Amino acid sequence: MTTTTSNNPTHSQLKRRDFLKLTWAALGGLAAVELGGLALAYMQPRPAEGEFGGVITAGKVDDFPANSVTQIPNGRFYVVRLADGGFMALYQRCTHLGCNVPWNQTAGAFICPCHSSQFDRQGDVQNPPAPRPLDLFAVTIADGMIQVNTGQPIQRQAFDPSQVVYP
Ligand code: FES
Repeated sequence: MTTTTSNNPTHSQLKRRDFLKLTWAALGGLAAVELGGLALAYMQPRPAEGEFGGVITAGKVDDFPANSVTQIPNGRFYVVRLADGGFMALYQRCTHLGCNVPWNQTAGAFICPCHSSQFDRQGDVQNPPAPRPLDLFAVTIADGMIQVNTGQPIQRQAFDPSQVVYP
């Protein structure tokens, strides 16, 4: 009678090895996809300073009288200076379907030409169908200059005094 010893893996060991190989292959593939995405994001052209999508210098604090609305066309926003001297930067894009919303000085409101949404000076909705106020851009005041970061519109549900920036 002879006994045989075998180094051959059992069926269950083979299954486990296959599973581990597949797992490592999947993780490697996932890492490759993420690295590719990062590389693509890095290669995207970034907006230059002064262009929409970047930081735009809107002007000096003193260029904007209290209770004024000033369009900054290259930034696609309005600088709003409130009666108390605070500043806001409102994106000119309607929150309904994206039309450009002009300021109507006579009405004292932003009135959308597409479906007549109306927004007050702080960008709050006065008349739908716009579902929310005009979006904000972050305002920074440094050395008496108003700088607006147009890289990321800020959505909001209503005007809040914390959205106002003071010199
Ligand atoms: S896009 Fe402005 S109201 Fe429809």
